[in-house]
Amino acid sequence: MPDPQLVLAARVRDALAAVLGPSYADADPVIRPSQFADLQANVALALAKKAGRKPRELADEIVAHLDTGDVIAKAEVSGPGFINLTLSDAWIAEQTAQALADERLGVPPVESPQKVIVEYSSPNVAKEMHVGHLRTTIVGDSIARILEFLGHRVVRDNHIGDWGTPFGMLIEHLLDIGEDAAERDDSSVADLTAFYQAARQKFDGDPEFAERSRLRVVRLQAGDPETLRLWRILVDVSKRYFNTVYARLGVTLTDDDIKGESFYNDMLGPTVQELEDKGIAVVSDGALCAFPPGFTGREGEPLPVIIRKRDGGYNYSTTDLATVRYRVDVERADRMIYVVGAPQALHFQMVFAVARMAGWLNDEVRAEHAPIGNVLGTDGKILRTRAGGTVKLAELLDEAVERAGRAFDEVPHDEEFDEETRAKIVEAVGIGAVKYADLSVARDSEYVFDFDRMIAFKGNTGPYLQYAAARIRSIFRKGGADPDAAAGPIKIGHPAERALALRLLGFGAAVAQAGETAEPHRLAAYVFSVADAYTAFYENCPVLQAPDEETKASRLALCAATLRTLETGLHLLGVPTPERM
Ligand code: ARG
Repeated sequence: MPDPQLVLAARVRDALAAVLGPSYADADPVIRPSQFADLQANVALALAKKAGRKPRELADEIVAHLDTGDVIAKAEVSGPGFINLTLSDAWIAEQTAQALADERLGVPPVESPQKVIVEYSSPNVAKEMHVGHLRTTIVGDSIARILEFLGHRVVRDNHIGDWGTPFGMLIEHLLDIGEDAAERDDSSVADLTAFYQAARQKFDGDPEFAERSRLRVVRLQAGDPETLRLWRILVDVSKRYFNTVYARLGVTLTDDDIKGESFYNDMLGPTVQELEDKGIAVVSDGALCAFPPGFTGREGEPLPVIIRKRDGGYNYSTTDLATVRYRVDVERADRMIYVVGAPQALHFQMVFAVARMAGWLNDEVRAEHAPIGNVLGTDGKILRTRAGGTVKLAELLDEAVERAGRAFDEVPHDEEFDEETRAKIVEAVGIGAVKYADLSVARDSEYVFDFDRMIAFKGNTGPYLQYAAARIRSIFRKGGADPDAAAGPIKIGHPAERALALRLLGFGAAVAQAGETAEPHRLAAYVFSVADAYTAFYENCPVLQAPDEETKASRLALCAATLRTLETGLHLLGVPTPERM
């Protein structure tokens, strides 16, 4: 679908080249939203000085050379040299109809697809997932969906924390309670938090247990088969638990996407060796360190990335360096996106800096930390239960669904739902509300987890958007029409029709921008703006009661295009859309 902004940009650029010469063919036409027209081009103001022209004169000349064709209805210069551009109604209508007829809503796949590794979720084995993991999971999944839709080769990567010293005590605790406990769903293993805490308590209070645990770590790292077998039991219990969470959330991660920290274990040695060979890793205070340029502490002293601890052990940074190296050398990624909590920002900056020193990252390979802000309680502090404990994910989702049920019963419905259907819808509303709340806020900002706000059927919420889509489907049912068969032709009569169609044409640009920046909230804002434009349309333009058949067909086509845009947009956000509500 030709995005209006791109279409106008191309035409202004051509006019500019005609006026100032071919060297200006690549200039930025500076297209911006306008109060007086659909868009405005501010290029005359931006380039006048360089071109040695008066801005207003240059603007006049650009307009004189503008190929308006049947695309641009009006081009006017205003103020010091703004060029106000108004698209023709016929063009808008035609483009909207074409998008509707296209299964990708007129969004072509990117010309040069990249291999993009999207790393997200990455919870820790033998620990309950917390709301922080919930958010990285939800945001990461949307980033993966968006990039995939754009035509990139996306590799989902779940970098679970499945290695390291805690496994010594966890394995010993498992042996103490009997490993068959892991097979029972009601056992103390299935309650991961309790299991972890029990192990921790023994570790802190029982020196004999602590010593056994330390020996167990050594055996784990040496690859002792029996120890690895026990370790795998713990990993498997955790995976089962992660998968229940993913299934409930409708997250697209599978076991095949798991490349946990343990995956890189054998690569740690060679990675460190390469850093030593390249003279990047040096011994400092007994530890092997790299000092990436530009990172200094409070006193101006260079900050180290510790690559091998004094005791010879590797750490979190070593694993991440091995991970970058593997993703570049073996997976041949063009871009890697780390969807991980904002508190780890410095860690990633420093790891990436060392990876650049080693030549693993360069201008051809993009590595970016997509930081995820903390989730706060309504008191503005890190989300906790009333008793002060960490909030269990399953309980949080249960509460969301329960509250969604109450909110659902308060909005009008076209039909009575049986218990089972209602339960399904309400589940989608509750989960959708939580997901959309995570997605609609800029991902790096903290946000307050507030059930009342996110579950409302009004405002910028998941339920509002789900309900809007379902209402459109209900129009088609009432009119005995099929949204998939609506084809127009579309004609623009009312300003609300025009505004809606123009919004719909922005879909491709919104998805592309969200993919480029790895920021799903941009797509969320767009989807919300479509629902808003639709509401204005619906209030002003009767659909089933349209004055004539032609108008009715056109409005049904606009409804169908809106429905597809809402559903596709929400799908890319990972928010489910019940057909009836
Ligand atoms: N498991 C870590 C945590 O829960 C997140 C891992 C992030 N990814 C990475 N490549 N370091 O905090």
